[in-house]
Amino acid sequence: MKHLLSIGDLDRAGIERICDRAAAFESVGGQDIKKVPALRGRTVLNLFYESSTRTRSSFELAAKRLSADVVNFVASGSSVEKGESLKDTVLTLSAHRPDVIVIRCPWAGGPELLPRWTDAAIINAGDGKHEHPTQALLDVYTLRRRLGNLDGVKIWIVGDVLHSRVARSGIVAFQQMGASVTLAGPPTLMPREAESLGVEVRTTLDGLREADVVYALRMQHERMDDAFVPSLREYASVYQVNARRLGARQLLMHPGPVNRGVELSGDVVDSPQSLILEQVAAGVVVRMAVLYEVLAASRSGDPITEPQPA
Ligand code: CP
Repeated sequence: MKHLLSIGDLDRAGIERICDRAAAFESVGGQDIKKVPALRGRTVLNLFYESSTRTRSSFELAAKRLSADVVNFVASGSSVEKGESLKDTVLTLSAHRPDVIVIRCPWAGGPELLPRWTDAAIINAGDGKHEHPTQALLDVYTLRRRLGNLDGVKIWIVGDVLHSRVARSGIVAFQQMGASVTLAGPPTLMPREAESLGVEVRTTLDGLREADVVYALRMQHERMDDAFVPSLREYASVYQVNARRLGARQLLMHPGPVNRGVELSGDVVDSPQSLILEQVAAGVVVRMAVLYEVLAASRSGDPITEPQPA
Protein backbone atom coordinates (compact mmCIF):
# COMPACT_ATOMS: atom_id res chain seq x y z
CA MET A 1 0.00 0.00 0.00
CA LYS A 2 1.71 3.20 -1.18
CA HIS A 3 -0.91 5.63 0.23
CA LEU A 4 -3.92 5.42 2.55
CA LEU A 5 -6.43 7.82 1.01
CA SER A 6 -9.65 5.90 1.56
CA ILE A 7 -10.69 2.89 3.63
CA GLY A 8 -11.61 1.37 0.25
CA ASP A 9 -7.85 1.04 -0.37
CA LEU A 10 -7.98 -1.94 2.01
CA ASP A 11 -9.82 -5.23 1.72
CA ARG A 12 -10.62 -7.38 4.76
CA ALA A 13 -7.20 -9.02 4.69
CA GLY A 14 -5.54 -5.61 4.60
CA ILE A 15 -7.56 -4.35 7.57
CA GLU A 16 -6.70 -7.52 9.50
CA ARG A 17 -3.02 -7.19 8.63
CA ILE A 18 -2.92 -3.61 10.00
CA CYS A 19 -4.84 -4.62 13.14
CA ASP A 20 -2.47 -7.55 13.74
CA ARG A 21 0.56 -5.32 13.31
CA ALA A 22 -1.01 -2.73 15.64
CA ALA A 23 -1.43 -5.48 18.25
CA ALA A 24 2.27 -6.33 17.89
CA PHE A 25 3.12 -2.69 18.61
CA GLU A 26 1.10 -2.66 21.88
CA SER A 27 4.13 -3.73 23.92
CA VAL A 28 6.12 -0.65 22.83
CA GLY A 29 3.89 1.64 24.91
CA GLY A 30 4.56 -0.51 27.99
CA GLN A 31 8.36 -0.30 27.74
CA ASP A 32 10.46 2.10 29.87
CA ILE A 33 11.78 3.53 26.62
CA LYS A 34 8.73 3.70 24.38
CA LYS A 35 10.54 3.41 21.07
CA VAL A 36 11.52 0.89 18.41
CA PRO A 37 13.92 1.70 15.55
CA ALA A 38 11.57 0.61 12.74
CA LEU A 39 11.42 4.01 11.00
CA ARG A 40 14.73 5.50 12.14
CA GLY A 41 15.89 8.08 9.61
CA ARG A 42 12.41 8.51 8.05
CA THR A 43 10.60 11.85 8.15
CA VAL A 44 6.86 12.18 8.81
CA LEU A 45 5.19 15.51 8.04
CA ASN A 46 1.87 16.17 9.77
CA LEU A 47 -0.01 18.74 7.66
CA PHE A 48 -3.12 19.88 9.52
CA TYR A 49 -5.49 22.46 8.03
CA GLU A 50 -8.20 21.65 10.58
CA SER A 51 -8.23 21.36 14.34
CA SER A 52 -7.48 17.99 15.93
CA THR A 53 -6.60 16.64 19.34
CA ARG A 54 -6.66 12.85 18.95
CA THR A 55 -5.52 12.32 15.38
CA ARG A 56 -2.66 14.81 15.43
CA SER A 57 -1.27 13.77 18.81
CA SER A 58 -1.52 10.07 18.00
CA PHE A 59 0.16 10.39 14.59
CA GLU A 60 2.98 12.35 16.24
CA LEU A 61 3.33 9.81 19.02
CA ALA A 62 3.11 6.91 16.55
CA ALA A 63 5.90 8.33 14.39
CA LYS A 64 8.10 9.07 17.41
CA ARG A 65 7.58 5.59 18.86
CA LEU A 66 8.85 4.24 15.54
CA SER A 67 11.90 6.58 15.82
CA ALA A 68 10.93 8.69 12.80
CA ASP A 69 11.64 12.44 12.67
CA VAL A 70 8.41 14.43 12.85
CA VAL A 71 7.56 17.87 11.48
CA ASN A 72 4.23 19.30 12.58
CA PHE A 73 2.67 21.87 10.27
CA VAL A 74 -0.45 23.69 11.42
CA ALA A 75 -2.08 26.03 8.89
CA SER A 76 -2.79 28.68 11.48
CA GLY A 77 0.34 30.78 11.95
CA SER A 78 1.84 29.53 8.65
CA SER A 79 2.13 31.15 5.21
CA VAL A 80 -1.33 29.71 4.42
CA GLU A 81 -2.55 32.83 6.22
CA LYS A 82 -0.71 34.88 3.55
CA GLY A 83 -2.66 33.03 0.86
CA GLU A 84 -0.25 30.19 -0.01
CA SER A 85 -2.13 27.45 -1.84
CA LEU A 86 -2.27 23.75 -0.93
CA LYS A 87 -0.13 22.95 -3.98
CA ASP A 88 2.57 25.50 -3.10
CA THR A 89 2.52 24.45 0.55
CA VAL A 90 3.05 20.80 -0.41
CA LEU A 91 5.75 21.66 -2.98
CA THR A 92 7.52 23.83 -0.39
CA LEU A 93 7.42 21.30 2.43
CA SER A 94 8.34 18.47 0.04
CA ALA A 95 11.65 20.25 -0.49
CA HIS A 96 12.47 18.88 2.99
CA ARG A 97 12.00 15.37 1.50
CA PRO A 98 9.42 13.88 3.88
CA ASP A 99 8.78 10.16 3.48
CA VAL A 100 5.15 10.44 4.60
CA ILE A 101 2.68 13.34 4.62
CA VAL A 102 -0.28 12.94 6.96
CA ILE A 103 -2.94 15.43 5.90
CA ARG A 104 -6.15 16.66 7.51
CA CYS A 105 -8.06 19.26 5.53
CA PRO A 106 -11.60 20.61 5.10
CA TRP A 107 -11.66 19.72 1.37
CA ALA A 108 -13.20 16.39 0.35
CA GLY A 109 -10.71 14.70 -1.97
CA GLY A 110 -7.85 17.03 -0.99
CA PRO A 111 -5.44 14.19 -0.01
CA GLU A 112 -5.90 12.59 -3.45
CA LEU A 113 -4.25 15.63 -5.06
CA LEU A 114 -1.00 15.37 -3.14
CA PRO A 115 0.70 12.52 -5.08
CA ARG A 116 0.82 14.91 -8.09
CA TRP A 117 3.14 17.23 -6.14
CA THR A 118 5.24 14.99 -3.90
CA ASP A 119 6.89 11.56 -3.85
CA ALA A 120 5.95 11.10 -0.19
CA ALA A 121 3.41 8.48 0.85
CA ILE A 122 0.11 10.18 1.72
CA ILE A 123 -2.16 9.30 4.65
CA ASN A 124 -5.61 10.85 4.85
CA ALA A 125 -6.25 12.01 8.43
CA GLY A 126 -9.74 13.31 7.58
CA ASP A 127 -10.88 15.28 4.51
CA GLY A 128 -14.02 17.35 4.93
CA LYS A 129 -17.17 15.24 5.07
CA HIS A 130 -15.52 12.56 2.94
CA GLU A 131 -13.33 10.00 4.76
CA HIS A 132 -11.36 9.29 7.93
CA PRO A 133 -9.77 5.90 7.18
CA THR A 134 -7.45 5.67 10.21
CA GLN A 135 -10.43 6.33 12.51
CA ALA A 136 -12.23 3.38 10.88
CA LEU A 137 -9.17 1.19 11.40
CA LEU A 138 -8.80 2.10 15.07
CA ASP A 139 -12.52 1.51 15.60
CA VAL A 140 -12.26 -1.97 14.07
CA TYR A 141 -9.14 -2.62 16.16
CA THR A 142 -10.93 -1.54 19.36
CA LEU A 143 -13.89 -3.83 18.65
CA ARG A 144 -11.68 -6.79 17.71
CA ARG A 145 -9.89 -6.44 21.05
CA ARG A 146 -13.23 -6.53 22.87
CA LEU A 147 -15.19 -9.01 20.77
CA GLY A 148 -12.58 -11.14 18.99
CA ASN A 149 -14.11 -10.52 15.58
CA LEU A 150 -16.91 -8.48 14.04
CA ASP A 151 -18.71 -11.22 12.10
CA GLY A 152 -22.45 -10.88 12.76
CA VAL A 153 -22.00 -7.96 15.17
CA LYS A 154 -24.83 -5.41 14.96
CA ILE A 155 -23.54 -1.83 14.95
CA TRP A 156 -25.86 1.17 15.12
CA ILE A 157 -24.33 4.49 14.02
CA VAL A 158 -26.42 7.24 15.56
CA GLY A 159 -26.73 10.97 14.89
CA ASP A 160 -25.27 13.37 12.34
CA VAL A 161 -24.40 10.91 9.59
CA LEU A 162 -24.70 13.56 6.86
CA HIS A 163 -21.60 15.52 7.93
CA SER A 164 -19.63 12.52 9.20
CA ARG A 165 -16.43 11.32 7.52
CA VAL A 166 -16.13 8.90 10.46
CA ALA A 167 -19.42 7.25 9.46
CA ARG A 168 -18.53 7.13 5.76
CA SER A 169 -15.28 5.24 6.44
CA GLY A 170 -16.67 3.26 9.38
CA ILE A 171 -19.59 1.80 7.42
CA VAL A 172 -17.21 0.35 4.82
CA ALA A 173 -14.73 -1.01 7.38
CA PHE A 174 -17.40 -2.55 9.64
CA GLN A 175 -19.08 -4.23 6.66
CA GLN A 176 -15.73 -5.52 5.34
CA MET A 177 -15.23 -7.16 8.74
CA GLY A 178 -18.63 -8.89 8.65
CA ALA A 179 -20.71 -6.56 10.86
CA SER A 180 -24.19 -5.32 9.96
CA VAL A 181 -24.69 -1.55 10.12
CA THR A 182 -27.82 0.43 10.94
CA LEU A 183 -27.86 4.22 10.62
CA ALA A 184 -30.22 6.12 12.93
CA GLY A 185 -30.88 9.83 13.10
CA PRO A 186 -33.10 12.64 11.90
CA PRO A 187 -33.93 12.45 8.16
CA THR A 188 -32.31 15.90 7.74
CA LEU A 189 -28.99 14.47 8.94
CA MET A 190 -29.10 11.32 6.80
CA PRO A 191 -27.24 11.35 3.44
CA ARG A 192 -29.43 10.85 0.38
CA GLU A 193 -27.39 7.82 -0.70
CA ALA A 194 -27.74 6.07 2.70
CA GLU A 195 -29.99 3.25 1.44
CA SER A 196 -27.48 2.36 -1.28
CA LEU A 197 -24.70 1.72 1.27
CA GLY A 198 -26.04 -1.70 2.27
CA VAL A 199 -27.22 -0.41 5.64
CA GLU A 200 -30.59 -0.23 7.35
CA VAL A 201 -31.86 3.31 7.99
CA ARG A 202 -33.99 4.29 11.01
CA THR A 203 -35.33 7.69 11.99
CA THR A 204 -35.94 6.84 15.66
CA LEU A 205 -33.98 5.04 18.39
CA ASP A 206 -36.90 2.67 19.12
CA GLY A 207 -34.93 -0.46 18.17
CA LEU A 208 -31.60 0.65 19.66
CA ARG A 209 -31.53 -2.28 22.12
CA GLU A 210 -31.03 -4.64 19.11
CA ALA A 211 -27.51 -3.27 18.74
CA ASP A 212 -24.39 -4.91 20.14
CA VAL A 213 -22.47 -1.67 19.61
CA VAL A 214 -23.88 1.86 19.67
CA TYR A 215 -21.60 4.26 17.79
CA ALA A 216 -22.68 7.84 18.50
CA LEU A 217 -21.56 10.67 16.23
CA ARG A 218 -20.74 14.24 17.13
CA MET A 219 -23.17 16.96 16.07
CA GLN A 220 -20.88 18.86 13.68
CA HIS A 221 -21.92 22.48 14.15
CA GLU A 222 -18.90 23.72 12.18
CA ARG A 223 -20.07 21.93 9.01
CA MET A 224 -23.71 23.07 9.25
CA ASP A 225 -24.68 26.08 7.15
CA ASP A 226 -28.39 25.65 7.92
CA ALA A 227 -30.45 24.58 10.89
CA PHE A 228 -30.73 20.81 10.43
CA VAL A 229 -32.56 20.31 13.73
CA PRO A 230 -35.00 22.67 15.48
CA SER A 231 -32.68 22.97 18.52
CA LEU A 232 -30.00 20.91 20.24
CA ARG A 233 -32.38 20.40 23.18
CA GLU A 234 -35.05 18.90 20.91
CA TYR A 235 -32.42 16.82 19.10
CA ALA A 236 -31.17 15.46 22.42
CA SER A 237 -34.67 14.61 23.60
CA VAL A 238 -35.12 12.21 20.64
CA TYR A 239 -31.60 11.07 19.68
CA GLN A 240 -29.37 11.40 22.73
CA VAL A 241 -27.81 8.08 23.78
CA ASN A 242 -28.23 8.07 27.56
CA ALA A 243 -28.57 5.60 30.43
CA ARG A 244 -32.29 5.18 29.71
CA ARG A 245 -31.70 4.18 26.09
CA LEU A 246 -28.43 2.21 26.40
CA GLY A 247 -28.77 -1.38 27.57
CA ALA A 248 -26.38 -2.88 30.14
CA ARG A 249 -24.74 -5.32 27.65
CA GLN A 250 -24.24 -2.77 24.87
CA LEU A 251 -20.86 -1.22 24.02
CA LEU A 252 -20.64 2.51 23.39
CA MET A 253 -18.28 4.22 20.96
CA HIS A 254 -17.75 7.83 19.81
CA PRO A 255 -14.89 9.29 17.73
CA GLY A 256 -14.56 12.38 19.95
CA PRO A 257 -14.73 15.16 20.76
CA VAL A 258 -18.02 14.54 22.58
CA ASN A 259 -20.68 17.21 23.00
CA ARG A 260 -21.72 16.06 26.49
CA GLY A 261 -25.43 16.55 27.02
CA VAL A 262 -26.13 16.58 23.26
CA GLU A 263 -25.44 13.27 21.44
CA LEU A 264 -24.36 11.54 24.68
CA SER A 265 -25.25 12.06 28.33
CA GLY A 266 -22.26 12.49 30.63
CA ASP A 267 -23.06 9.32 32.59
CA VAL A 268 -22.77 7.01 29.57
CA VAL A 269 -19.54 8.70 28.45
CA ASP A 270 -18.03 7.81 31.83
CA SER A 271 -19.66 4.37 32.12
CA PRO A 272 -17.80 1.02 31.95
CA GLN A 273 -19.60 0.35 28.64
CA SER A 274 -17.82 3.29 27.02
CA LEU A 275 -14.89 2.40 24.74
CA ILE A 276 -14.12 6.05 24.00
CA LEU A 277 -10.74 6.18 25.72
CA GLU A 278 -9.82 2.73 24.38
CA GLN A 279 -10.44 4.18 20.91
CA VAL A 280 -8.03 7.04 21.68
CA ALA A 281 -5.36 4.62 22.93
CA ALA A 282 -5.85 2.38 19.88
CA GLY A 283 -5.15 5.42 17.69
CA VAL A 284 -1.44 5.29 18.49
CA VAL A 285 -0.75 1.62 17.71
CA VAL A 286 -3.02 1.60 14.66
CA ARG A 287 -1.28 4.70 13.26
CA MET A 288 2.10 3.09 13.98
CA ALA A 289 0.93 0.14 11.89
CA VAL A 290 -0.29 2.41 9.07
CA LEU A 291 2.99 4.39 8.98
CA TYR A 292 4.91 1.12 8.95
CA GLU A 293 2.71 -0.24 6.15
CA VAL A 294 3.03 2.74 3.78
CA LEU A 295 6.77 3.08 4.34
CA ALA A 296 7.40 -0.61 3.86
CA ALA A 297 5.55 -0.42 0.51
CA SER A 298 7.16 2.80 -0.70
CA ARG A 299 10.69 1.55 -0.01
CA SER A 300 10.54 -1.92 -1.52
CA GLY A 301 14.03 -3.36 -1.72
CA ASP A 302 14.94 -1.39 1.40
CA PRO A 303 13.45 -3.59 4.11
CA ILE A 304 12.42 -1.82 7.28
CA THR A 305 13.62 -3.31 10.52
CA GLU A 306 11.07 -5.56 12.21
CA PRO A 307 9.77 -4.18 15.53
CA GLN A 308 12.40 -4.53 18.27
CA PRO A 309 13.46 -2.40 21.24
CA ALA A 310 15.46 0.75 20.39
N1 CP B 1 -11.66 11.49 16.08
C1 CP B 1 -10.96 12.57 15.68
O1 CP B 1 -10.63 12.72 14.50
O2 CP B 1 -10.68 13.47 16.67
P1 CP B 1 -9.77 14.77 16.50
O3 CP B 1 -10.57 15.74 15.62
O4 CP B 1 -9.55 15.30 17.89
O5 CP B 1 -8.52 14.38 15.81
